[in-house]
Amino acid sequence: MSKLSKKDFITIHDLSAAEVAEIFDLAAELKKKQQQGEKHEYLWAKSLAMIFEKPSTRTRVSFEIGMWQLGGLAVNLDQEAIGLGVRETVGDVAKTLSRYADAILIRTFEHAKVLELAQQASVPIINALSDLLHPCQALADFFTVREKKGSLKGLKFAYIGDGNNVCHSLMFAAAKVGMNLTIAAPKGYEPKEEIVELAFADGKKAGIEIDILNDPVSAVKDADVIYTDVWASMGQEKESKKRKKIFAKFQVNQQLVDLAKKDVMVMHCLPAHRGEEITAEVIDGPNSVVFDQAENRLHVQKAILTLLLGGV
Ligand code: CP
Ligand code: NVA
Repeated sequence: MSKLSKKDFITIHDLSAAEVAEIFDLAAELKKKQQQGEKHEYLWAKSLAMIFEKPSTRTRVSFEIGMWQLGGLAVNLDQEAIGLGVRETVGDVAKTLSRYADAILIRTFEHAKVLELAQQASVPIINALSDLLHPCQALADFFTVREKKGSLKGLKFAYIGDGNNVCHSLMFAAAKVGMNLTIAAPKGYEPKEEIVELAFADGKKAGIEIDILNDPVSAVKDADVIYTDVWASMGQEKESKKRKKIFAKFQVNQQLVDLAKKDVMVMHCLPAHRGEEITAEVIDGPNSVVFDQAENRLHVQKAILTLLLGGV
């Protein structure tokens, strides 16, 4: 039985602030146990079927190793072999996998496919990135900020770049953790209106501010965190050249970082395109926490799995 209010983990919007705090507390506990070499097999003999329709390093490896550390098993399904919606319908795959696995993870293009899988499956569905959202990433990111800064309330988080899946999930997460968020994106590349409306409503309830600007310089002023992501996401490769020109002023370089607080944390979900959205100097510099973020995917996802599968 899930210890979270929803059957699935699809969007942070569906979580309460208390559930996010619970995930963070359990992630911290699991991280400590793992570092101390203490067994924590809360998901003994449980299993996760993983469907990846886009490439992945961090997500695939952290979920697979995470399940193993929890005493369970993750099975990787090759998209070409499974042919979701091609070889057979999404519903038939959902129903079949539900008979074998205790949860199903999917990384795909259309968000609607994640929703359809969730509707048809009797086991929990985990959204491991769609064109619209990347909730596992955003939770690991705010967990990282909490770890480094102690508390999240009242801090300023500046997201610079494309109003994409990562940006959308950060917007939802900011409201749940009580952190102000300023986004700077080029005109026409701001976050999607449907997400903005929901995230603004969540933000209002939480008493935080989410601002959307077109100027990176004002966005990073007094920021405690500067975050960026690639300018062309997976599936948008054909737009890369055009986007490089449009986003040029949105590069996170030392000049921009110098405008934020001295101890600003620089974040990136990775994979990064050095010399495009972030310079090598900044990503390898003293303010960068990108590999702590990457590591925390493991601990936060183990907490999500454990709560979803009722393992603790
Ligand atoms: N940040 C992230 O999700 O990385 P991968 O695409 O490598 O999984
Ligand atoms: N916005 C990026 C995130 C990769 C983890 C993409 O969708 O490609």
